Amino acid sequence: MKRTHYSGELRLEHVDAEVTVCGWVARRREHGEHLAFVDVRDHTGLVQCVVDGSVDVRAEYVVAVTGTVRRRPEGTDNPALPTGEVELAHCQVEILNVAEPPPFPLADRPGGGGEADVDEIVRLRHRYVDLRRERMQRNLRIRATVNRVLRASMDEQGFVEVETPMLWTPTPEGAREFVVPARRQPGNFYVLPQSPQLAKQLLMVGGVDRYFQIARCLRDEDLRADRQYEFMQLDLEASFVDQDDVLGFVGEAVAAATEAVTGQRPSIGTMTWAEARDRFGTDKPDLRFAMELVELTPVFAATEFNAFKAPCVKGIRVPGAAAAHGRGRLDALTDRAKALGAKGLVWLKVGASGQLESPVAKFLSETEQAGVVAALDADAGDLLLVVADEHPLVCSVLGALRLDLGRPAGAEKAPHQFLWVTEFPMFEGLDDDGNPVAAHHPFTMPHPDDLDLLESDPLAVRSQAYDLVLDGWELGSGSIRIHRSDIQARVFSALGISDDDAAARFGFLLGAFRYGAPPHGGFAVGLDRLVALLAGEDNIREVIAFPKTQSGIDPLTGAPGTVDARQLDELGIRTLPKKA
Ligand code: AMO
Ligand code: AMP
Repeated sequence: MKRTHYSGELRLEHVDAEVTVCGWVARRREHGEHLAFVDVRDHTGLVQCVVDGSVDVRAEYVVAVTGTVRRRPEGTDNPALPTGEVELAHCQVEILNVAEPPPFPLADRPGGGGEADVDEIVRLRHRYVDLRRERMQRNLRIRATVNRVLRASMDEQGFVEVETPMLWTPTPEGAREFVVPARRQPGNFYVLPQSPQLAKQLLMVGGVDRYFQIARCLRDEDLRADRQYEFMQLDLEASFVDQDDVLGFVGEAVAAATEAVTGQRPSIGTMTWAEARDRFGTDKPDLRFAMELVELTPVFAATEFNAFKAPCVKGIRVPGAAAAHGRGRLDALTDRAKALGAKGLVWLKVGASGQLESPVAKFLSETEQAGVVAALDADAGDLLLVVADEHPLVCSVLGALRLDLGRPAGAEKAPHQFLWVTEFPMFEGLDDDGNPVAAHHPFTMPHPDDLDLLESDPLAVRSQAYDLVLDGWELGSGSIRIHRSDIQARVFSALGISDDDAAARFGFLLGAFRYGAPPHGGFAVGLDRLVALLAGEDNIREVIAFPKTQSGIDPLTGAPGTVDARQLDELGIRTLPKKA
């Protein structure tokens, strides 16, 4: 091997060693005819190489440089560079390949003015160049660390890795599926799995006991910062376990991965779904800041103010925000609340002596005003926001305003906050036919205390489904599954799924359950999301080597593309003219 050292690892301890580094030319500077500086970059960083004479290299040429490590001359140290106390002297530069000028500056020299702000389409079209940047190298390596540690942790906990098919059959998970034509059965289709959900349940019937997989999942849904068509899950399932066991397995693996990346082992608290919604207005609370939703209904129990004559009144306190919120911003907040479904928004500013300044203050009695200040524990200079309505709406509106006003910006490194959210409702709302809609999936076990309500009050039934939340993102979901056909039949019936319907959609699973299904439960962690948050990124595309754009396109390969007519013929497929 030509290379003796990596560029970024050279330090004072290497002084006097003759070394060869290999990589890309980050920068070249000529000092007259007798001296040239070439910065060589590899995935570990860069080192300055001094050539006695001139050298014909350009940015991104691929080179092998041999020279002697020496201390940099007095006053030329670069403290921003880990190799900044040394340089390679008397270098021989071998050009291994030439390169066209890069499509955008790679400006990843530490302390060299930060990253260039390059259009994402351009970055993705030339992803192979983009990946050379320090940030991308770091993110890919964090991802590899997370995968490695998760895998090791699952292994240590007695889980066995089993691969499940990519050519699968439709499953009841809600998202639209990617469809694959079956050449040998024209008119028939496989689908790509949304998750290995049913396969892993079959593995439990198959006696695998503890299964895991770092699994690729595919869902044809609208893309966002935290969503790609294809993404990875740490997927697991275990038999003869209860909810606490599952949370224990997942918590151990996720804590180990987090510790490997951040150096700190997180602790993970628990909150029920009802408490999360009541206190934070969402099922995925961002616990990096407080600003909780405070119950004000009793304060306004006998109010004369029409807007507050409602089943529920709650408020949030935005500390010290009164002065910064003039008329314009307050109107914008009110519009936002209305767009979220509120009938209006009451704002109150706390004055120097604790008095409330607000257009509606005159409608509130002194006791009510004092009650609001006391309940919200408000101080002079605070801004208070109050919404009255049905309880779920008050929670969702204030929960969204809380995030708008309190969420730490990406750059602020607030410590990560993990949270288990448990006891999700079994059903969320009604569909067009008046049937309850499964909140997780139809194989989720109801909470044992609520089984009696399945027929009489389905919307009040809690489930044994749970989520893992990190910094306000849903990181993963799971549940204890139904393994008994009598309970499954009652849940299907509550969902309005007929026996025939159930047999047609997932008959193979129900069939398997007749042959001895153990009690079981599991979980899936969204790996892209975990890695992005641990890497301090706001978008999962930054931690995926070759992601799709927001509109589902890969600018590098041009996917999706057309296939030739012969291939379509073979598949028995004819395309329709594009819709206007
Ligand atoms: P669920 O559908 O909640 O559960 O998915 C689990 C986790 O996968 C991640 N995720 C995504 N990440 C990126 N892009 C997407 N489009 C995307 N969709 C989901 C999220 C989510 O929390 N089979 C069940 C799990 C189980 O019950 O065991 C499942 O897939 O982080
Ligand atoms: P109105 O009585 O509709 O003129 O509203 C008086 C004030 O109360 C306005 O500032 C509204 O934005 C606010 N408001 C009206 N309805 C609600 C509500 N349900 N919750 C909170 N504020 C409201």
